[in-house]
Amino acid sequence: MAAKEKGKKAAPKPDLKWWREARFGMFIHWGLYAAAARHEWVKHRECITDADYQKYFDHFDPDLYDPKAWARAAKDAGMKYFVITTKHHEGFCLWDSKHTDYKATNTPCGKDLLKPMVKAFRNEGLRVGFYYSLIDWHHPEFPVDRIHPQRDDQAFREATKGRDVTKYAKYMRDQVKELLTQFGQVDQIFYDFSYPGEDGKGRDDWESEKLLALTRELMPKIIVDDRLDLNDVKGGWDFRTPEQFMAREWVTLNGKRVPWETCQTFSGSWGYYRDEETWKSVEQIVVMLADTVSKGGNLLLNVGPTARGTFDDRALARLEGMGRWMKLHGRAIYGCTQAPDEFPKPDNCILTYNKKAKRLYVHVLSWPIRELYLDGFAGKVEYAQLLNDASEVFMTEGTPHGQPDRETLTLELPVQRPDAALPVIELFLKS
Ligand code: GLC
Repeated sequence: MAAKEKGKKAAPKPDLKWWREARFGMFIHWGLYAAAARHEWVKHRECITDADYQKYFDHFDPDLYDPKAWARAAKDAGMKYFVITTKHHEGFCLWDSKHTDYKATNTPCGKDLLKPMVKAFRNEGLRVGFYYSLIDWHHPEFPVDRIHPQRDDQAFREATKGRDVTKYAKYMRDQVKELLTQFGQVDQIFYDFSYPGEDGKGRDDWESEKLLALTRELMPKIIVDDRLDLNDVKGGWDFRTPEQFMAREWVTLNGKRVPWETCQTFSGSWGYYRDEETWKSVEQIVVMLADTVSKGGNLLLNVGPTARGTFDDRALARLEGMGRWMKLHGRAIYGCTQAPDEFPKPDNCILTYNKKAKRLYVHVLSWPIRELYLDGFAGKVEYAQLLNDASEVFMTEGTPHGQPDRETLTLELPVQRPDAALPVIELFLKS
């Protein structure tokens, strides 16, 4: 019996608990495309050949790379985990993989960039996530398809007809084995992405089930995203990943609420994009975070470091702004989720809820003059205060100014809006 037990594989036990508590993480997109500085899909967009893309490899030398500074910036912003692109669609690997030469150690940089990053973030107390691209526009056995940079090059297609996707699938498993055995505990893996159908790729190409089984075997507690094309398979994913749009409500599948994490960018690109101007403000990002948590989700906010290895000033300014807000308002985010249905969302507000603490957080999008009406809240609140300075907010049960009673609790707010990207009122609920 004991011997039998020994030989047994650990049963997968995806650990979503820390992740639900964390709510806020940092995505990092870093690769050779940082040098092109015009989107991580530049190779696809401009149909660049391997030979022409080589200049980025030959000149990749992030001399200012300081993973400790990155980790500190993430921590100070209030983030509790990070997810790094170990390999993006271009195929370039940040770590010293045995299975390819297309890696950081062979560029002028000459160093494994992943190891020190994992160490630095872990030292700051952040959990570790790896993004791994299923797509690979550099691998010699990756068949050309509808999104490949050489998709329109008929001669290239003809010449590479013999590419064997099973060899590529094996390469992915070999690499994932490295990633999940050489870097200590990895808490999340983000496979990206499937596009089945004509001239596309999906679970049969990636051998997704095998890849997933290996993942769970090597790292039983890891949580896996939903882009392996296994959405109809039991245990084929642990959380959904709506991207670049705001979910209107808690993400569901077959009518059931599911764990979800939305990933978002500061501007219109994941990789560093020098000339892109559509940067969101701190206020917009804070609202994104609160809104996501108010619907039971996580926010993974992306930074695209430069090819010198730095977060640029635009990113740093936003991270600092997030940190300023999180320092005073983190209580309205960590461990929080959607408010129970008995608390309807007041006008111009977002509600988050901490079940354990029995507190409700009213994020006020538009500061009203003097009174904030909370319909349906009467009789349920013990005490109210502004979250930024814990100053009391007077409450009146009932409806002033002759409106019909709607079980209203009226909060008496200061005329001056608290100086915060998004002011929050903390309500202690009666037990
Ligand atoms: C997409 C893109 C990509 C980015 C990712 C983030 O699938 O291909 O460039 O890495 O989303 O979720």
